[in-house]
Amino acid sequence: MAIGIGLLGLGTVGSGVAAILASPQGRHPLVGELVLERVAVRDLQRPRPLSLPPERLTTDPEAVIDDPKVDIVVEVMGGLEPARSLILRAIAAGKPVVTANKAVIARYGQEIAAAAAQQGVYVLIEAAVGGGIPIIEPIKQSLGGNRIRRVSGIINGTTNYILSRMADEGAAYGEVLADAQRLGYAEADPAADVQGGDAADKIAILAGLAYGGPVARAGIATEGIDRLDARDVAYAAQLGFVVKLLAVAERMEDEAHDGPAGGVELDVRVHPTLLPKHHPLAGVHGVNNAILVEGDPVGQVMFFGPGAGAGPTASAVVADILNIAGIRQVGGPQAGLDPLLAASSWRHCTLVDGSLSRHRNYVRLRTRDEAGVIGRIGTCFGAAEVSIQSIVQLDASAGEAEIVVITHEVREDRFREALTAIEALEGVESVAACLRTL
Ligand code: NAP
Ligand code: HSE
Repeated sequence: MAIGIGLLGLGTVGSGVAAILASPQGRHPLVGELVLERVAVRDLQRPRPLSLPPERLTTDPEAVIDDPKVDIVVEVMGGLEPARSLILRAIAAGKPVVTANKAVIARYGQEIAAAAAQQGVYVLIEAAVGGGIPIIEPIKQSLGGNRIRRVSGIINGTTNYILSRMADEGAAYGEVLADAQRLGYAEADPAADVQGGDAADKIAILAGLAYGGPVARAGIATEGIDRLDARDVAYAAQLGFVVKLLAVAERMEDEAHDGPAGGVELDVRVHPTLLPKHHPLAGVHGVNNAILVEGDPVGQVMFFGPGAGAGPTASAVVADILNIAGIRQVGGPQAGLDPLLAASSWRHCTLVDGSLSRHRNYVRLRTRDEAGVIGRIGTCFGAAEVSIQSIVQLDASAGEAEIVVITHEVREDRFREALTAIEALEGVESVAACLRTL
């Protein structure tokens, strides 16, 4: 039985999806049932890698949704609007939706989920996080029997590609970013990648699924790689660390708040992080992503693979289409939506005050190269009850020095108190960089 697909967008991801649908040979037989009925684009004149009959292309996305031959709507146009309204329109028309749009899901996921539940249609989002890595369905379904303690990962391909090439080849930031754009990894506005917003969207989605309730996207502390100094990447390497843009969603230890009737407090954040070279995420290079899920009783499970690009992302989109097509083949969700596949919320999640979160830190200080400076810095850390793991002078010239401190795990407010005192010290010129450390 043919199943009509309406594609909103024929860019990097849309073209990848169209390419899979155009060559079903050797794939699951259901792929051969999928017919690309209509495709919405912005510019009809733009050359496309795949030739489609011109009457299938339109600049009117609503016409795609409303077309009676379209059974499943696939939103791969990006941006917040009109993407959000189009997803809601498809749901209102009783059509299931597949989307790769993490920006929309991270902000309007609740609204979309409520509309989908009311209409009894699925909205599937495997491609929204981790590109080709199956992570959404495993978190929703395969790990459902666990209490999740932490989800952490490298979930932006563009920044991992940039950091890898800067570390391996000493390549210039701007040049590598341009390559990432050419290769189809970056967002339409790459600020979302390099400023950490894309990773924040994705960790909001993962946290919502892992902990059972929506997470306020606006409350996620976010720092990107755009202000990262190559000097810190080099110093980190000298000290046995690799710098990665990490996204973390961690359950606070207070289990009194943890239960179906209550809520859970989470520390959710995105920032460049020093990882010890032996850490499982330290060896993830290039456009690859990896997500480490830690739960009880499973322990640690790591998901690894290509995090962006046409083929990998299309693989995830088509997996969702097939899930829906399979359900259609047996007559649709007759007795209501499967709560695991539909990922219904069951708990209230709140974000912890960032000043109470605990972590190790890397600090680079610019100081005068004179006796007593290191001692005074150590005293300030001690007074704020910040324990130092190592303190080294890494560069000194013309009477100036650079001192790098790695702290033991400490509460953020105590660490900030120490930094304020250090900045005011005689002989300290500036706190030049400050990064989290695992
Ligand atoms: P893209 O290459 O910029 O493609 C966007 C497509 O949507 C283009 O075909 C564009 O038409 C069309 N479009 C945009 N606005 C439209 C409008 N108002 N009406 C009709 N058509 C419109 O973007 P992409 O990289 O494929 O990304 C698409 C989505 O997938 C985004 O949400 C992105 O975050 C997500 N995603 C991307 C990747 C990746 O590796 N690229 C991975 C995972 C998820 P024209 O071609 O005529 O301009
Ligand atoms: N721009 C995103 C990235 C695409 O680089 O990870 C995949 O979501």
